[in-house]
Amino acid sequence: MAKLLIEGCKRLKGEVTVQGSKNSTLPILAATVLTSDENVIHNCPRLSDVTTAVKILRCLGCSAKLSGHSLVVDTSTISCHHIPDSLMREMRSSIIFLGAILARCKKARLSFPGGCELGARPIDLHLEALRKMGAVIREQHGEIVCFAEKGLKGANIALAFPSVGATENIMIAASTAQGTTVITNAAREPEIEDLSEYLCKCGARIHCAGEGTVVIEGVEKLHGTAHTVIPDRIVVATLMSAAAVTGSDIVIKGVVASHLRSVIPLFEEAGCVVGLKDGVMSISAPKRLGAFPLIRTTPYPGFPTDAQAPLMAVSTLAQGTTVFVENIFENRYKHAGELARLGAKVRCEGRVAVVEGVRELYSSNLQAYDLRGSASLAVAALAAQGVTEIDTTKYLDRGYEDFDVTLQSLGANVKII
Ligand code: UD1
Repeated sequence: MAKLLIEGCKRLKGEVTVQGSKNSTLPILAATVLTSDENVIHNCPRLSDVTTAVKILRCLGCSAKLSGHSLVVDTSTISCHHIPDSLMREMRSSIIFLGAILARCKKARLSFPGGCELGARPIDLHLEALRKMGAVIREQHGEIVCFAEKGLKGANIALAFPSVGATENIMIAASTAQGTTVITNAAREPEIEDLSEYLCKCGARIHCAGEGTVVIEGVEKLHGTAHTVIPDRIVVATLMSAAAVTGSDIVIKGVVASHLRSVIPLFEEAGCVVGLKDGVMSISAPKRLGAFPLIRTTPYPGFPTDAQAPLMAVSTLAQGTTVFVENIFENRYKHAGELARLGAKVRCEGRVAVVEGVRELYSSNLQAYDLRGSASLAVAALAAQGVTEIDTTKYLDRGYEDFDVTLQSLGANVKII
């Protein structure tokens, strides 16, 4: 199993360009299934989750070819409506294929999805919505078997929580359903907007009717298109964290500042100077950061749960105390115990974590448990004295393209063994 070795206490310097968004790419790849045509997806990050999505597409009988950061997907040859358990278990986003396969093939068979363990992560909202759209769904022996023999029908769907995945699944399924679907309390993340833009380019009729209300008028069929995925806002937040924790000045290119409206002011309040012009962000951090104001994770446009772990790493060395409240997932502080091994003072109770900044962190051997937690450990290790070993890189590979190379290009002493 590969491990990440980081020698800390080096200031970072230089420029990096942010990769395409993982959380945009995955639902868009699922949505290609609806088109029965060729699609070219540009700015596709090279990640293990994207490889899993490609395997799913191929398993369904589609062709998918990645060259550089462009993925050509031809879904005209689809021949199967079943995703094997081994692929379903590899990532949570595999469930987004459900709406697409059901809409295209009028039936679908798959098992419950895997992914990072952040709590229960049920899929009840996805299934409830598809049932409302006329799908007959049986859950048996760990499998989900769905039929919509006469096709899916538009419906009014009020989500109990603005689930990102459920909103995506419904938007995809509703694009070719008979009639109009209205989703209220829909998720509003930038990745939802990107999926909507892709679907509309394919001929779907989707529009926003006020905050959190999405209207999808079903059309008979969709055609293929070319689409460029938006930049990854969580990778930007991670790179900002890396700069902030090491007291560095770096430049990040390809940033959509409006996607980071809840994140940038926190770094500024902690003492960083952030400059933004034409998609280029410069961040300049003081030698020692102040604490962050209260950080509460909430659905977009609030502070993203995915950025909680990297910012917690920064707060361990801040002057003062930072309080985190995790409102999205019930078990998303696994990195806290590992940060404590570096000398961080973190107390967690239920959804609250209190971090009292210390003057120094010391290297240790750490265990990674999930994707953003891995990024948190890497960020803290960049500022710890000595060489920190993080076991394993497999979660990082799901969301950060060549993370070691990116950090090396900024002057960090990082290697994978
Ligand atoms: C997506 C993101 C993930 C991010 C999360 C929240 C992708 C590939 N992943 O995950 O990085 O952390 O949004 O911003 O885009 N829930 C239910 N029932 C459901 C669905 C969700 O109770 O049927 C709950 C979940 O358990 C969780 C909350 O709703 O507590 C948010 O989940 P959701 O927004 O669905 O997250 P994902 O789409 O899985």
